[in-house]
Amino acid sequence: MEKVNIMDHTFDLIINSPGRINIIGEHTDYNNGFVLPTAIDKKIRFKFRKNETPSNCEVKSIDFDTAFTFDLQKVSKSKTQWENYILGVIYEIQQLTDKLQGFDCVLESNIPIGSGISSSAALECGLAFGLNELFDLQLTKLQIVTLSQRAEHNYVGTKCGIMDQYASVMSKEGRVILLDCQSLEASYVPMNIVPYKLLLLNTNVSHNLASGEYNTRRQQCEEGVALIQKKYPDVQSLRDVSMEMLTEFKLDLSDAVYDRCTYVVQEKDRTLNAVKALKNNDLKELGALMYQTHHGLQHLYEVSCKELDFLVDFSKKYDQVLGARVMGGGFGGCTINLIHKDAVEEFTKEVSEAYFKAFGIKLTSFEAMPCEGTSIEN
Ligand code: GLA
Repeated sequence: MEKVNIMDHTFDLIINSPGRINIIGEHTDYNNGFVLPTAIDKKIRFKFRKNETPSNCEVKSIDFDTAFTFDLQKVSKSKTQWENYILGVIYEIQQLTDKLQGFDCVLESNIPIGSGISSSAALECGLAFGLNELFDLQLTKLQIVTLSQRAEHNYVGTKCGIMDQYASVMSKEGRVILLDCQSLEASYVPMNIVPYKLLLLNTNVSHNLASGEYNTRRQQCEEGVALIQKKYPDVQSLRDVSMEMLTEFKLDLSDAVYDRCTYVVQEKDRTLNAVKALKNNDLKELGALMYQTHHGLQHLYEVSCKELDFLVDFSKKYDQVLGARVMGGGFGGCTINLIHKDAVEEFTKEVSEAYFKAFGIKLTSFEAMPCEGTSIEN
């Protein structure tokens, strides 16, 4: 393998693995619905080298200013959570191939952690992608996606859907992915929104109950499906459930489970309507649907928080903001805003001031556009 440039002369390979945004279709992936994500220009950069040992590995994080070592023959869960993202990927690769050997990896990230733009998927997928190249493992991109998801389930403990890993690996510049999470069929929709932009506002709060609450939401959806299945045995997931069907079970389901299922069933249609709106360049409609999603995530799915609600409510005062909502798993992190380019500066200034006044927390913001998925740096 050719060595890369002088700065990185001791490394064999450099991989960039991006975080993602999601236009709409939240908490639908693990319910076999649709999502509309894309990778963005925030990424983890990995440097890899083989270290010519059979099984000694070292992984170093510049951002955490920490490193750890492990032996490929004795991979098990760590008490340090970030190490589990790495170890989980190694474990899952080892279920598919025995071609891994000793390696060193250094990584550096500009993806804000806990902000709902999936630094975790970027970490898992970048590592899997890099090792695939380094040791010629012959894994397909889809295998990289699914093994990374399994790593998160089995080692990290979050029973996530497939959206984040899929977006991190499969994204294409300038387009968003309409992914059918049941069939895994994807189509790429051009993100033509000029003169509008996507502005991300980071609350800079992340509630650490998020992972537990996330798994609870998933269980509640499954609970709904289990009951509906008793009458409709063909129903496999909320994908197969209409609002009409769900209403039949209103009295049998707890209020919480009924609300969770209602949100998911509505979001399924909303996502497809949003794709239509995007294709027709009807950005007002797209924005209105984003606001509806927030409403559902706030009141029915209950994964918002006061900081996120404040930002979304504040944006409603501005005609130039067509839509806004919490993005990703929730309980903190970012809102995604569809905003006229001429209003970005003033809106950002005013919302930041108001947010600081309300919570004493500094808001951070950045614009995002669809970028290429995980790739080798040349
Ligand atoms: C997290 C999960 C995804 C998805 C979103 C919510 O980002 O990793 O699989 O469920 O939350 O849409």
